[in-house]
Amino acid sequence: MSFHIRSFEAYQAAWKKSQDSPDAFWRDIADSFDWMEPFSSVKTGDFNADHVRWFEGGKVNITANALDRHLPNRAQETAIIWEPNDPQESTRTLTYGELHAQTCQFGNALKSLGIKKGDRVVLYMPMTPELTIAVLACARIGAVHSVVFAGFSAQALSDRIEDAQAKVVITADEGRRGAKTIPLKATVDAATAHSNCVKSVVVQKITGAACHMESEKSVYWHDLVAGHSTVCPPEPMDSEDLLFILYTSGSTGKPKGVVHVHGGYMVYAGYSFSNVFQYQPGDVYWCTADVGWITGHSYIIYGPLLNGATSLMFEGIPTYPDAGRFWEICAKHQVNQFYTAPTAIRSLMASGTEPVLRHDLSSLKVLGTVGEPINEEAWQWYHDTVGKKRCPIVDTWWQTETGGIMISGLGSLSPMKPAHAGYPLPGIHPVLLDPSGQEITENNAEGLLCIAQPWPSMIRTTYGDHERCRNTYFRPFPGHYFTGDGAKRDEQGLYRIIGRVDDVINVSGHRFGTAEIESAINETSGAIESAVVSYPHDIKGQGIHAFVILDATATDMPAIQLQEAVRNAVIRGIGKIACPDRIQFVTALPKTRSGKIMRRILRKVAEGEHESFGDISTLLDPGCVDLLVRGAKQLQTR
Ligand code: PRX
Repeated sequence: MSFHIRSFEAYQAAWKKSQDSPDAFWRDIADSFDWMEPFSSVKTGDFNADHVRWFEGGKVNITANALDRHLPNRAQETAIIWEPNDPQESTRTLTYGELHAQTCQFGNALKSLGIKKGDRVVLYMPMTPELTIAVLACARIGAVHSVVFAGFSAQALSDRIEDAQAKVVITADEGRRGAKTIPLKATVDAATAHSNCVKSVVVQKITGAACHMESEKSVYWHDLVAGHSTVCPPEPMDSEDLLFILYTSGSTGKPKGVVHVHGGYMVYAGYSFSNVFQYQPGDVYWCTADVGWITGHSYIIYGPLLNGATSLMFEGIPTYPDAGRFWEICAKHQVNQFYTAPTAIRSLMASGTEPVLRHDLSSLKVLGTVGEPINEEAWQWYHDTVGKKRCPIVDTWWQTETGGIMISGLGSLSPMKPAHAGYPLPGIHPVLLDPSGQEITENNAEGLLCIAQPWPSMIRTTYGDHERCRNTYFRPFPGHYFTGDGAKRDEQGLYRIIGRVDDVINVSGHRFGTAEIESAINETSGAIESAVVSYPHDIKGQGIHAFVILDATATDMPAIQLQEAVRNAVIRGIGKIACPDRIQFVTALPKTRSGKIMRRILRKVAEGEHESFGDISTLLDPGCVDLLVRGAKQLQTR
């Protein structure tokens, strides 16, 4: 692509241009894509306006750029390499020609179910090529996809289906993860039992497990596509037409549907992929994320395909059949760029160097990390043991809301410093603010991370609730996008992300709101109230510590049984991934006289701090702190 940056000097020049002439900068990048009709303006509005719109007047379809434009020269080249959960099974590959044909065919199949431009389709699927095909098929016909991670519970799935008012849900009979199978269709049945919006459920057959197939509603994928044409012209979309909704957690309320659109998202996903990973034609690129999260959307599917890259998709988990699986796959497919999360690195590090050394990793050129702060020890292990000190590490900071990578090195072009994300991409203008909203201009400083200029893949709205979007991101510091993260900037101007400054916790790179977990816990029979905080966890980055108050009916039961009941409530409400690591039963929470929980105290207790609590005189009952500490000590020593 013409926007590929090849030197640090070129990076600096591009960043400067993005500051001096932002419209010209973004226009050049956008012009590298195929537009059905050209856009008439680059950007309208700013962070103080109700909306920022990009590339208005343009007609485009992201799949025409991700698929059709490669067909004249690259139809026979590999788009997707799929590695199954079980290493004994065969790899599947799809060329650009095949992926195009199957996307078109499934697009026609969705149309036959009555899906039209603007309709929402929920995908609750395992990591198979059909997931990529389903995503692309929705985009192709102008439907809005909303992928829900297949580890979420029926309740969480139902919340998302109903919020999006989805007409179709696409799933599989069962998913496979390591030695386990996951009953996906049964979960969809539970989630849609009382739904008025869902008209059809499409089921990919994977394990062949018996499924309840209501004749009116459920249809197998292979039966549905049979006989449909592989010709399906891309629906002409306005730049600002919805491409997808992806639900993510915030500090309050239920998860919100982050909305991204065809034009701006396409431009930035394509641009950032090419430059961060320094992808070269013929390279094999592997991102280990799940498509259920934003990383999978932008950097398994859209970013790579927009660049005509070969993107590897893995169905399984890093430790199955053993802790060498990632490295075996890297060696087998001669992976050149490898992109994973700090949690995976830390858990594999715990298995020692042997599983890494047993495989030939000489093909690796760039290593990436995403999703949570990486500690220096894990960074060094990744760099030395996996990358043999030859591969740059790109520590990519971004969010569901940003659509693409915002702060990161570009392959080996940029200066690299352990645990630092580094410099912003061209076009991205981060600033540090103090709590009063004053910009901190000097280096060697710490503050609230905000973005000062709009960028094309920025969140457009939270589905169905634009005020919530304005209040969360654009009103806390007028004229800025507020990230919710704290960051440091060193003397060279390199950024280091410290972590969330709000009530969002990041467990193994997955985002949860404390309020969301608390409301799931409060569904436990006998639970009156709860408060959840995070504490540092060796593998997961952050662990979840729950403080729970029970009523008299529950206090006679053994603690183990009660803890199990709390865990089950979270599994029912959200999914196993949000299960508390520690559950402490308490008789009171540290509340101020006005009834506000002092989370600062709970965080200290959970972190093992047992003495200096600062001023606790505003507490209604200062004596409760001692009891909390005593209970926590018992849990921590167990
Ligand atoms: O706290 C930051 C952390 O993950 C949050 C965004 O989570 P999510 O929307 O689920 O997207 C994750 C994948 C892009 C951020 O607010 N985060 C993400 N990347 C990094 C990070 N923290 C530190 N370093 C990173 N590289």
